[in-house]
Amino acid sequence: MQNPIFTIDAPTAADLTAFYQDGYVAFPGVFTAEGIEGLMAECVSHPQIVDFIGKSDDGRSALPQPYQLLIRDWNNKGFWSDQLFDAPLVKALLQAVINDKYHFCHSTLHVSLRGTPALHFHQDHHHWKHENPINLAERERWYIQMLYYPNGFTRGDRNLSVIPGSHRVSPTPDVTVEKLLAGEYDDVAGRPLKAEALELPPGSMIFLNARTFHAVASKPFDSPQPYRIFLNYIFKEAGPPHRWSQSIPSEWLANANPHRKMLFQREPYTPGCWVQTTQ
Ligand SMILES: [Fe+2]
Repeated sequence: MQNPIFTIDAPTAADLTAFYQDGYVAFPGVFTAEGIEGLMAECVSHPQIVDFIGKSDDGRSALPQPYQLLIRDWNNKGFWSDQLFDAPLVKALLQAVINDKYHFCHSTLHVSLRGTPALHFHQDHHHWKHENPINLAERERWYIQMLYYPNGFTRGDRNLSVIPGSHRVSPTPDVTVEKLLAGEYDDVAGRPLKAEALELPPGSMIFLNARTFHAVASKPFDSPQPYRIFLNYIFKEAGPPHRWSQSIPSEWLANANPHRKMLFQREPYTPGCWVQTTQ
């Protein structure tokens, strides 16, 4: 393909082994130079981001979250962000882990300015947080987050932290981060569970099992980097909607090849969609 966004087309066997053992695998600097540049340009020209970054101090202080912006659903893709649905590396990772039947769930675009507060350790497999029969049936199914950092991060400056191996601990309400880090679930995980602060260069990706505990540090007011751009593409094993499974714009389907039809032809999340009714 011309103008690929990634420098590689598939994970190595070692990458996949790391993913199964740790619940995530990092691909530092995996973007091509033009991929980083093109993706950043698409992100920072998004009208909501232009408006947010350009706010005055007064305008910003009136917002409930003055220093960070989350765009969900992020639908107006450009040439580079469009590739993240099914670039060869994306396809190879998802097919290796989930097999051939999976769906695109949704994608988000985030910007964090200096002053953004920390996001504490959590897991993101939403079916575990609900008790309907559909949720119970879906609990062990894959929910994968592909996290992209076009401008990278250093430790202590909005870095991602993970607890490797914590995906082996079922996300039930009685599991707390405090108990986890105190060693109470080491036997379940089969290893000592410890927090690990990551550091990644610009153009990096993390392939994350959403059951793995993860957290994000604050962005200090004296950070040398004015803003962090972060993208999240989320995929799920084929089945009923997950939380935030988005409605698919008709234009995405109009031009979809068979693979994209498989990604996009599924039900969106709607309030009440997990409650089965009897005739
Ligand atoms: Fe999360």
